[in-house]
Amino acid sequence: MQALKDVGASKLLVVTDPFFAKNGMAQRVAESAKAQQVKIFDQVAPDPTVGLVAEGTAVVREFGPDVIVALGGGSAMDCAKAMLHFAGGDIRLVAIPTTSGSGSEVTDFAILTHQSVKHPLIDGRLRPELAILDEDLLTGLPPSLVADGGFDVLSHALEAFVAQNASPFTDALAKDAFCSAFASLPASFAGHQEVRGKVHIAATMAGMAFTQAGLGVCHALSHSLGGMFHIPHGRLNAILLPSVVNLNAAAAGEKYAKLARAAGLGGSVEVIAVRNLKNGLVRLRRELKLPETLAQAGVAPRDVWHRAEEIVSAALKDPCCRTNPVRVEDFMLRQILEEVTGRV
Ligand SMILES: NC(=O)c1ccc[n+]([C@@H]2O[C@H](COP(=O)([O-])OP(=O)(O)OC[C@H]3O[C@@H](n4cnc5c(N)ncnc54)[C@H](O)[C@@H]3O)[C@@H](O)[C@H]2O)c1
Ligand SMILES: [Fe+2]
Repeated sequence: MQALKDVGASKLLVVTDPFFAKNGMAQRVAESAKAQQVKIFDQVAPDPTVGLVAEGTAVVREFGPDVIVALGGGSAMDCAKAMLHFAGGDIRLVAIPTTSGSGSEVTDFAILTHQSVKHPLIDGRLRPELAILDEDLLTGLPPSLVADGGFDVLSHALEAFVAQNASPFTDALAKDAFCSAFASLPASFAGHQEVRGKVHIAATMAGMAFTQAGLGVCHALSHSLGGMFHIPHGRLNAILLPSVVNLNAAAAGEKYAKLARAAGLGGSVEVIAVRNLKNGLVRLRRELKLPETLAQAGVAPRDVWHRAEEIVSAALKDPCCRTNPVRVEDFMLRQILEEVTGRV
């Protein structure tokens, strides 16, 4: 990794999860930076908590790195971003994603969990200085992670394309990312390494789009359900996204139709194209063996209804609601929950 050597780190902290410490990748990445001193913080767990970030921040303060390298999926990158944010000082951040999903390597977001609620921290200073996309890191990615991450990419691109702050620049990135991921995910899921690079680039493009344009109600609900039920983020998006297309169609139909046509799903009349988009997502979700309901993902319907008030209230407070194309109201969230809860 020549790009990492060029960063010129002298005291390097690698932030990763135990998987990359055990398989030696964290050490190999650290060596390629040619720093004088190296420390590896390998305690990251999926959906980093505020407590974990506090532990990591103490390590940053004690070790005093000039460069932090985040190696891993969205969880490792978000944890590193938050550690750097809370430690303060003048530390540079390099992100090396190992999943094709979150886009966190190029976004102003870090998602932290506290007391069963996922809080998006949003600040321009969270954006890494450099993102290194190395498709060799994806060879061992299991199909389930390809599927989960893939639907995170699709939901970032789709939500950014119709978000309140969308612009011609973010539209170009979002549309291309959506079409590329939509076309490549079945082959990537089946293990064809040659397309994995395409999905990896699509993930980063979708991140570039949504960090400017914003997201929407799919992410607001995904954060609230993810904090409570600990289902992987992309898997929740896969469950929610078709219902979100339905909900926003009145305001975003024209753009949804454009996306459907660009992705080869056709539909000369707007309502048909929107229906094709929704059905295309449902078909792909099935092909990637993802659950269609929360019940299929292991959450009992009674647990959803028991906590419905909490789920809706956390989603309404989520900043992603602010950029949804339609003003999000309590009854809409309940309608989506009705559609996605499923039966045991
Ligand atoms: N900051 C942002 O902009 C942003 C955007 C979307 C999602 N997120 C957040 O990102 C998190 C999800 O990130 P994710 O989907 O990348 O998963 P993740 O980082 O939570 O990782 C999931 C699992 O995959 C394993 N893994 C990672 N790379 C692997 C590889 N190459 N081979 C084998 N196993 C590997 C990890 O060890 C971990 O156990 C959520 O917390 C979500 O809220 C952040
Ligand atoms: Fe996401």
